Amino acid sequence: MTAGEAPTAGPPGAGDQNLTESGLPFKTLYGPETLEGFDPETRLGEPGQYPFTRGVYPSMYTGRPWTMRQYAGFGTAKESNQRYKQLVANGTGGLSVAFDLPTQMGHDSDAAIAHGEVGKVGVAIDSIEDMRLLFDGLPLDEVSTSMTINAPAALLLLMYQLVAEENGVPGDKITGTIQNDVLKEYIARGTYIYPPAQSLRLITDIFAYCKSEVPRWNSISISGYHMAEAGATPAQEIAFTLADGIEYVRAAVKAGLDVDDFAKRLSFFFVSRTTILEEVAKFRAARRIWAQVMRDEFGAQDPKSQMLRFHTQTAGVQLTAQQPEVNLVRVAIQGLAAVLGGTQSLHTNSFDEALALPSEKSARLALRTQQVIAYETDVTKTVDPFAGSYVMEALTDDVEAEARKLMDQVEEMGGAVAAIERGFQKNEIEKAAYQIARDIDTGERIVVGVNRFTSEKEEPFEGLRVDPAIEEQQAERLAKLRAERDQGEVDRQLAALVEAARGDDNVLYPMKEALRAKATVGEVCNALRDVWGAYVPPDAF
Ligand code: 3HC
Repeated sequence: MTAGEAPTAGPPGAGDQNLTESGLPFKTLYGPETLEGFDPETRLGEPGQYPFTRGVYPSMYTGRPWTMRQYAGFGTAKESNQRYKQLVANGTGGLSVAFDLPTQMGHDSDAAIAHGEVGKVGVAIDSIEDMRLLFDGLPLDEVSTSMTINAPAALLLLMYQLVAEENGVPGDKITGTIQNDVLKEYIARGTYIYPPAQSLRLITDIFAYCKSEVPRWNSISISGYHMAEAGATPAQEIAFTLADGIEYVRAAVKAGLDVDDFAKRLSFFFVSRTTILEEVAKFRAARRIWAQVMRDEFGAQDPKSQMLRFHTQTAGVQLTAQQPEVNLVRVAIQGLAAVLGGTQSLHTNSFDEALALPSEKSARLALRTQQVIAYETDVTKTVDPFAGSYVMEALTDDVEAEARKLMDQVEEMGGAVAAIERGFQKNEIEKAAYQIARDIDTGERIVVGVNRFTSEKEEPFEGLRVDPAIEEQQAERLAKLRAERDQGEVDRQLAALVEAARGDDNVLYPMKEALRAKATVGEVCNALRDVWGAYVPPDAF
């Protein structure tokens, strides 16, 4: 498809009542014939056992509820630190840090390119000093922390480890996750820095570093969420995500790592839509595919290497700006879908997120939604409640088959990176997104409050705004940091980093010393830009 030309219609699923979101047949009545020849032994297995269709742990939520992990971060480290303390006080089980775009793109807050974005969609982190403020007073030996950071993921992990060590928490005690999934940034979202080959090298360096220095840390969160938000169907979401996962495992094995040394710390990240049945089938199919690929293609022996553990975020793209309170209902349904699908951790969106950053109240309501599901319903009292259901087993098979078809197409092109370079995933997602938009326009796809059941007059809404003055504050703090640090030590450590990047040594070790010496995020990322170059996407596909 050339730029400007409308894509041909995508999968027919969107809006057609007899088809699922993935464009699969959706019967009005599933019966015993659906389970004919169905062998629960091979197709289902037991919870916590290969192929993990029913969940990764034998007891699932009957043993421990999922981690309630609310994505949050804005403004300066101080302001975000306050929000984290509020969330912990309200019962959140794990932290989840949102970074602003300059940090995600490896630029300092006082770089020209950062103007207008500092502290906007997440917290501004320029140096180890900001990391100290971000986690001040939080128990890093108890809490698990997810950081949504990709191209500069190594830097944020190292600064987290340095701050934990300063607080007496050694590397083998910290637990959390870095997203570190740059392949999906080339497909959707766009916060990449380096070309694919260098990105894969950095990611495999991180795998090796985590194994030896921070063994309880999840080294990557292979994400389908952003592809789904860009329009991917459920089958596309898991197919393209698992294809990325295969690419990472191949790169790590090629770099000499043993699959059972790192695979147990791979994790995933998916969306949950309001279409509960297909979403539960999607999660079950994804676990079954990943377990089979890890066992049969990579020879993983450790069951933990075959488990697909994942985080879920409710579908942001399904929130409406119209009648925003209706989003509370959508998020509750989406959160339930994630739990019925066996998620390990969950973020529930705030009802006002289609309008502004979540307020303290809307963020609390989002967390309360999870607590109602966990403590007032009975869905945590048993494992994989849908197991054996006619519709669920049929849908799980169908979504699995559709996803495998797409994975085979990616494989025929030479794998995820080769397909990305041809624009395959991006193209397929664009077609699906076009179909959804078209069906909303025609009314085929009903969006309550938007194209059906609309209200005459929307109530006025005043959301949370980030104070633009924080950009200046950050610039002043950076100037002070640069004036007071030992510049000679910074220069020596950055030179050592460049040396390692030019060769084959793991770059995280000199990187850690540069950050300890107060090199900034921008300085470290620019040092690598000078050696590896920056990725420039080919013209529109
Ligand atoms: N039986 C036995 N053990 C159990 C258990 C059970 N029922 N339940 C949990 N456990 C154990 C686990 O084995 C684990 O122990 P370990 O650390 O020794 O292995 C411990 O309890 C914690 O359990 P989990 O690992 O299942 O749960 P976590 O919450 O710690 O980890 C994860 C979940 C998915 C593996 C992890 O990678 C994670 O937290 N990911 C979060 C990612 C995230 O938040 N991303 C945000 C993205 S927002 C974004 O991208 C931006 C925007 O644009 C959307």
